[in-house]
Amino acid sequence: MREMLKKIIMDNRELTKKGRVADYIPALSKANPEDLGICVIDMNNNVYTAGDYNKKFTIQSISKTVALMLAIMDNGEEKVFNKVGMEPTGDAFNSIYKLETKDIAKPLNPMINAGAIAVSSLIKGNSSEERFERLLSLFRKISSNDNLKVNEEVYLSEKKTGNKNRAMGYLLKDMGVLEGNVEETLDIYFKQCSIEVDCVDIANIGLFLANGGTILETGEDIVTEHVARIVKTFMVTCGMYDSSGEFAIRVGIPAKSGVGGGIMGAVPHRIGIGIYGPALDEKGNSVAGYGVLRDLSKELNLSIF
Ligand code: DON
Repeated sequence: MREMLKKIIMDNRELTKKGRVADYIPALSKANPEDLGICVIDMNNNVYTAGDYNKKFTIQSISKTVALMLAIMDNGEEKVFNKVGMEPTGDAFNSIYKLETKDIAKPLNPMINAGAIAVSSLIKGNSSEERFERLLSLFRKISSNDNLKVNEEVYLSEKKTGNKNRAMGYLLKDMGVLEGNVEETLDIYFKQCSIEVDCVDIANIGLFLANGGTILETGEDIVTEHVARIVKTFMVTCGMYDSSGEFAIRVGIPAKSGVGGGIMGAVPHRIGIGIYGPALDEKGNSVAGYGVLRDLSKELNLSIF
């Protein structure tokens, strides 16, 4: 396995040149576009790594999967899906316009920014600090890493420049989707996106989902299989944004990308995958990470379809 991963990383390193590091959040532009790494963890907890697997990056949109689990645990499925839909958009992750054109007055799904902001508003706690701390604890638990923390530079950079997210927050408040204080919710959202991880951390989160919501190492049930299935299904239909259809055909693995360059993969009952490659394609997905997952899926016959 190790040799195979090494080869896949080598074969795809060239692809990093085809992408660009995100710079709409200024602090993200400091990443090295040539970095590429992977971690795979199997159901016996064997950990396999290759390339730049221990470089740190911010989790960004991958966090939307974890926030969704906590929102469902806190409120139940019915309330959450009253506020956010279950359909892919076919639009960019930060698109605003369907919020007004669709007759259903809610974001189409929890993986686009508008839907994720609505989801973060549903996380319970007595203050915004407590709400975020509860979410961070869940991240630490399911990544088996007690040291996860927010990258302050990225958080502040995003808070300062996230005007489109801010606009969507206020629009959602006006629509009656977002409850409570908009700025507090945005703060939780910006912080959750700025949690710093490496490939091993996100492979562990993938493994947790692949294992149906139970931490493999300890046997602790965190969410029901049903909730884990909801998250994995969203990963298939919306996890790679408006590339999700093509990705399902070419790769066939439930996966979630982030503009920090991460991709988290969960192959049910088989493996968790963490990938880092900050050079992104025009849709905001890691360009070489996509290639790595395609090769890995082929080698290990991982497509769920
Ligand atoms: O809100 C944003 O734009 C970022 N914090 C997260 C976007 C993201 O990761 C989209 N992923 N491909």
